[in-house]
Amino acid sequence: MTNEQTTKKDLIQGKWYFASCPSGMEEMLLEELKKFDCGNFQQFFGGIRFKAETWNALEFLINTRLASRVYLELHQYKFYKDEDHHSLAKDKWWHHIFSTEQTFKITTLFDKQASGFFKNSMIMSLRLKDAIADSFRQHVGSRPNISKDNPDVSILQRIEAIEGQKGWFNRIYLDLCGTPLSHRGYRPRGHEAPLRENLASALIQSTDWDREKDIFMDPMCGSGTIIIEALYLAADLPGSWLKLYGLTLGNKVFAFQNHHWFKQEDFDQKIKDYAADLLKKGDAAIGNIPGGQFFGSDLSPKALRIFEKSLELANFPVDLCELEVADALELKPYDEAPGIVVSNPPYGERLGQEEDLRSFYHDLGENFKKNYKGFRCYILTSDPELRKAISLQTSMRKQFFNGGIECRFLKYDIR
Ligand SMILES: C[S@@+](CC[C@H](N)C(=O)[O-])C[C@H]1O[C@@H](n2cnc3c(N)ncnc32)[C@H](O)[C@@H]1O
Repeated sequence: MTNEQTTKKDLIQGKWYFASCPSGMEEMLLEELKKFDCGNFQQFFGGIRFKAETWNALEFLINTRLASRVYLELHQYKFYKDEDHHSLAKDKWWHHIFSTEQTFKITTLFDKQASGFFKNSMIMSLRLKDAIADSFRQHVGSRPNISKDNPDVSILQRIEAIEGQKGWFNRIYLDLCGTPLSHRGYRPRGHEAPLRENLASALIQSTDWDREKDIFMDPMCGSGTIIIEALYLAADLPGSWLKLYGLTLGNKVFAFQNHHWFKQEDFDQKIKDYAADLLKKGDAAIGNIPGGQFFGSDLSPKALRIFEKSLELANFPVDLCELEVADALELKPYDEAPGIVVSNPPYGERLGQEEDLRSFYHDLGENFKKNYKGFRCYILTSDPELRKAISLQTSMRKQFFNGGIECRFLKYDIR
C-alpha cells in the first residue's frame, strides 16, 4: 500500500508529518515537498508522510499551494483488538500535548481494507476520545471537552491494514493548520465555489503555461479561482499569502500556535520575521506581473462581481485581470497566440438538461477549433459523455478528484 521513496534526504533527523491533498495530486505534492528541507517521503492515497525539522515543516505549511492540511505525527502502534487500541492510545502522555482547558476533536480515516472491516469511523473516533479522556483523568485528574465545530486541537487517526500480517496499524496526528490551507481567504463570505483553491493550483501546475509568453484565459471563470491561483503562481506567492500579515502581528492564524510544542520551540519572533520577509517579496512580485496577460469572462455578471471582490481581498490590483461578461461559445481570444485556456465548464446543475450540456460541450469544442488556432485549451470535466461531445483530439488526460467527484483534466492543442 505504501510506496516508499528513497531520497538523498533519507537521514533527516526531525519528526514525522503528513501532508494531505485531494486524491490525484499526491505526486505533485511530493514534488512540492522536495523543494523544502523535507525527506523520507511515503506516498499514500490522499497525501504524503514525510520527515522534517520543525522549522522546515512550518515553512512548508506556510508556503504550500497544494496541501489541504499538514499534520504532526504524535503516536503510532499496531493493534489487534479494540481493547489494545484503547490501552495503547491511552499510554500516550496526552496532557503534554494539550491541556484540560482546551477543546478537542477527533477524525478517523481508514484505508480500503480497514474501511471494509471497521465500517464506522465514528466508533473508532469515540474509542480514541475515551482513551485520551482516561489518560488525562489518570495523570491530571480531569479531562478536556470535545468541540465539533471550533476545537482548539484537532486529532486525526489513520487506521491501515498491515501488508501480509494480521492486525491494524494506527497513526495518530495533530492538525497544525486549523482552517484548511486550501481556504486561502480571498473568497467573499457565503460564496460556494465548486473548485478548491489547491485543486485549481494543481490544474495550472499540470499545464505547459509559459509565464513569459502566454496569455492566460478562463472563459467560464465564475468567481475566478483558476485565474487567482495563476496570479499566485505568477508572483510565486505562498498558499498562505493572506495569513502572513496576521502572523507579523502575532495573531493566531494557524492551529499550531495553540500547541504546547510550538510554545516550547520559541519560534514566535522567527515566524513574525519570516512572514514579514515573505510579504515584502510577494508585494514586489505582484508589482512585477505584467498587465494584459490574464483574461476572465463568464455569462454571469454576479460571478464576475465576486471575482473582483476576491482580487481585492487577495491584494491584487483589480486591473491586473481583464474581466468581461461574455458567452464562451462565441468568445474569441483576447490576444494572438501563444496562449492557454484553463477552465472548468458547467457540469449539470445550471444548464439542467443533459442534452443541453452535450450540445454546450460540442459547441465549445467547435469554437476552440474555429477561433483558437495556436492555443492550448485545458478543460476539467467529470462526465465521460460530455468529454466525448468535444470532438477534438486530446493530447493530455489527467485524473483529479473535485470534492470526491472523479474528473479528467484534458488538453487540446488547437492547430
Ligand atoms: C463550474 S463553474 C466555474 C467555477 C469557477 N472555476 C470558480 O472558481 O468559481 C462554471 C461557470 O460557467 C459559467 N457559464 C455557463 N455557461 C456559460 C457560457 N455559455 N459562457 C460563459 N460562461 C458560462 C457559469 O456562469 C459558471 O460560473
